[in-house]
Amino acid sequence: MSSFAGPRSLRQLLDAVLTIGSDLDLAAMLERIIQSAVGLVDATYGALGVLDDTGTRLAQFITVGIDDETHKKIGNLPEGHGILGLLIVDAKPLRLPDLNEHPDSYGFPPNHPPMRSFLGVPIRLRDEVFGNLYLTDKKSAEVFSDVDEELVVGLAAAAGVAIDNARLHTKVRDLGLIEDRERIARDLHDTVVQRLFATGMSLEASARLVRSDPSSAIARIELAVDDLDLTVKHIRTAIFGLEQSRSDDRHLRDQIMGLVREAAGPLGFEPRLLMDGPIDTGIDSRVGNELVATLREALSNVARHAQASRVEVDVIVDGDVSLAVIDDGVGPPGPETRRGNGLTNMTSRAEHLGGTLEITEGSSGGTLLRWRVPKG
Ligand SMILES: Nc1ncnc2c1ncn2[C@@H]1O[C@H](COP(=O)(O)OP(=O)(O)OP(=O)(O)O)[C@@H](O)[C@H]1O
Ligand SMILES: [Mg+2]
Repeated sequence: MSSFAGPRSLRQLLDAVLTIGSDLDLAAMLERIIQSAVGLVDATYGALGVLDDTGTRLAQFITVGIDDETHKKIGNLPEGHGILGLLIVDAKPLRLPDLNEHPDSYGFPPNHPPMRSFLGVPIRLRDEVFGNLYLTDKKSAEVFSDVDEELVVGLAAAAGVAIDNARLHTKVRDLGLIEDRERIARDLHDTVVQRLFATGMSLEASARLVRSDPSSAIARIELAVDDLDLTVKHIRTAIFGLEQSRSDDRHLRDQIMGLVREAAGPLGFEPRLLMDGPIDTGIDSRVGNELVATLREALSNVARHAQASRVEVDVIVDGDVSLAVIDDGVGPPGPETRRGNGLTNMTSRAEHLGGTLEITEGSSGGTLLRWRVPKG
């Protein structure tokens, strides 16, 4: 880079970084990141595009500088073609004096404000591209400068760390749900004990009535016995149910890690594993069992058919439960390929749960298997 940011811009960058880092809520943080970037380089418009989990399209597009009214008129958010797509395909900073003149530009949708100067910078989390910062129309100059680029690259690096941090925070909070369950179990237990005391007192009263009014004593005792039966059922379903689902959940996470580790044998290398969302608490055990069976078959398919040198397994729980197995092997089976039991079973496992199985080519060759079902 030919010039360096001066002290004033460095001060601004530092301020921006501190502002971003002070928020642990991911949505609010993304908003701040793009706002900081716009301020830092004096842009008229800014956007932060978050890539979907295939890394090939935009899943979210957060903008600054375009009012709600205009947003509505423009309609659908961009998916990441044209200029926006350049950074997705090749994740490095891009600066253009006039984005309309770039050969990949195919113009703006109707009602979109005109834009000229452009600066785009990817945001990375460790070795994954999370999304891109897009800035347009520098106010105080015709084009964005080297220094602007440098500043936004710095901001994007800080943003990457902060986003990673926020995600970790969400994970920790999800773990907190387990503690919550323990608390609920305790509370329930206490309530149940109170009920037992009440029943005990009612039995004592019945004992006093046995001689003077035997028939109402019997009626009371019968009521107390019913009450006790109910209470025992209550204990069983509430406490035992909670304990059981908790150990099942733990089991799921362990089972996934176990399968991935085992797959290293037939594959010759260990798959990369990414788990995100409340896997420990958010998946119905029926769904969990089907997921494990699907993962086992998908990994065995990669080992037997793909000739891959890399595999990634992503298990993400958000609105849905999504399992992706991505390899860099020979690519997906064609329409004429014989379908064995594996693909058929994985599809019906998904469909039984109201979900889908998709097998497509991965973004950089190989096969992408995506199994997605509701949480149950
Ligand atoms: N990850 C993959 N990479 C390349 N080809 C694959 C991959 N997964 C499946 N295939 C192809 O799809 C075909 C069907 O897979 P499927 O799991 O249904 O059957 P199978 O593995 O051959 O046999 P089975 O599952 O009954 O033991 C495979 O034979 C293989 O040609
Ligand atoms: Mg198979």
